Amino acid sequence: RGAAGTAPDLVGRHVVVSAGGTREPLDPVRFLGNRSSGKQGYALARVAAARGARVTLVSANSALPDPAGVDVVRVGSALELREAVTKAAGDADAVVMAAAVADFRPAVYATGKIKKKDDQEPEPLTLVRNPDILAEISASRPRPGQIVAGFAAETDEALAHGRAKLATKGCDLLVVNEVGESKTFGAEENEAVVLGADGSETPVPYGPKEMLAETVWDLIAERLPELPE
Ligand code: CTP
Ligand code: CA
Repeated sequence: RGAAGTAPDLVGRHVVVSAGGTREPLDPVRFLGNRSSGKQGYALARVAAARGARVTLVSANSALPDPAGVDVVRVGSALELREAVTKAAGDADAVVMAAAVADFRPAVYATGKIKKKDDQEPEPLTLVRNPDILAEISASRPRPGQIVAGFAAETDEALAHGRAKLATKGCDLLVVNEVGESKTFGAEENEAVVLGADGSETPVPYGPKEMLAETVWDLIAERLPELPE
């Protein structure tokens, strides 16, 4: 196969993709969020479906429309995303964590709207760590031979940080983007290097997010165990 033609090389596979950015609620009307648009994750889901996979897309707060032929599970917070991804990963051949997951969430959720009080400084915001979903899935591998991939946006020494992160997370592939300028957030195009736990390094030139998605699925497809006859 190649970027021009799509061979159905993911027929018979179930793949899970997370996309978008989590929102960590403070109260019923406020959250801590990030700028992820979901475009890269949606491109991964569309390309996997075009290559014949059954696709579960766990989408965190993306404004993008549901891609045709994809099962979309909508979530808000990191804990919701973890629950949905963990459930879908149970029988998945591959899991790709493209979502921007908040590292921290407010320690306390106020069930009523937080009100300001005159002559009183605001309370400091206390945060707690969210679970590392990519590391958890990589460690548990609910299905034998399952391939797990993550994304990392780094501002400097991207490859060195990426190598270290790949090892810490225990995943098979890590897509490393150098961030800055108009790159990555909300952009239509992306440039990256895909690092493999086997030492491989696959550069992907600046181009549409579909092109990066095709490369990610190429690398996953060649690592998947053969389908039973
Ligand atoms: N990720 C995750 N769960 C988290 C945080 C991140 O599954 N709680 C996943 C992301 O979806 C991404 C990968 O881990 O695929 C790398 O995210 P990144 O934020 O770069 O990694 P961190 O370990 O959080 O490192 P940093 O301190 O640089 O943010
Ligand atoms: Ca992080």
